[in-house]
Amino acid sequence: MEQNKDLNQYDIPFAKRIYVNKSNSSLLKKLLIFSPFLFLLFSIFALRLVRNVEIGPLINLNFKAERNQDHRILGHLPYNEIHKEKLVLIEPNIEVHIDMRDSLLNMREEAKNEGVYLVFLSGYRSINLQNDIFYSLKSIRNQEAAERARVSAPPGYSEHSTGFAIDIGDATQRKTDFEVEFENTDAFRWLKKNAAKFHFKLSFNKNNKYIDYEPWHWRYEGSIEALKVFEISNR
Ligand code: DAL
Ligand code: ZN
Repeated sequence: MEQNKDLNQYDIPFAKRIYVNKSNSSLLKKLLIFSPFLFLLFSIFALRLVRNVEIGPLINLNFKAERNQDHRILGHLPYNEIHKEKLVLIEPNIEVHIDMRDSLLNMREEAKNEGVYLVFLSGYRSINLQNDIFYSLKSIRNQEAAERARVSAPPGYSEHSTGFAIDIGDATQRKTDFEVEFENTDAFRWLKKNAAKFHFKLSFNKNNKYIDYEPWHWRYEGSIEALKVFEISNR
């Protein structure tokens, strides 16, 4: 007994050991193994977020620009040439779309009954003819395209090629044909007051930014086909 007591004196006390919880350590290991992937995922997510925030408004602008893109050239919208079988001759050298013939002739008749004499100057023009009008005169007059386009549409861009446009003058004042002074004639005053009744509308008014004012140029909007043709222009 005495001997045991002596031995106990030299006994090393038990070290206090803390065992790491086994399930915690395996979670830690997994976290360490997957941390590069987690970091990568986080980075991708953050990058996408930043890009969306920065590029978002630009994408919207782009989208709007695409939607607003109506394919104008120098202020003129593109128009297809009307099929020949839809054209009718209303007098020598003047052909128009069959849809507008009756309305146009009735308009001239009503004006005449009120003592106003309308004269038709130009109706349907093929794209080939428009090509000559645009480029030949451009060259003869030594004009740049933008300058020429103020008074004449480039080929493929004229309302005249649809058959739904008509240039009108005053039969009693031929000096005003294709001139802004036409607006001072009885014919123009009458048209301004009455043309809508016959579904005609002035195409190029004084507010147009790219194309000069043309008081003589009217277009027909009295059929679904005509409305479709001028839908973009009317927006
Ligand atoms: N004068 C008009 C713009 C045309 O050429 O169609
Ligand atoms: Zn015209």
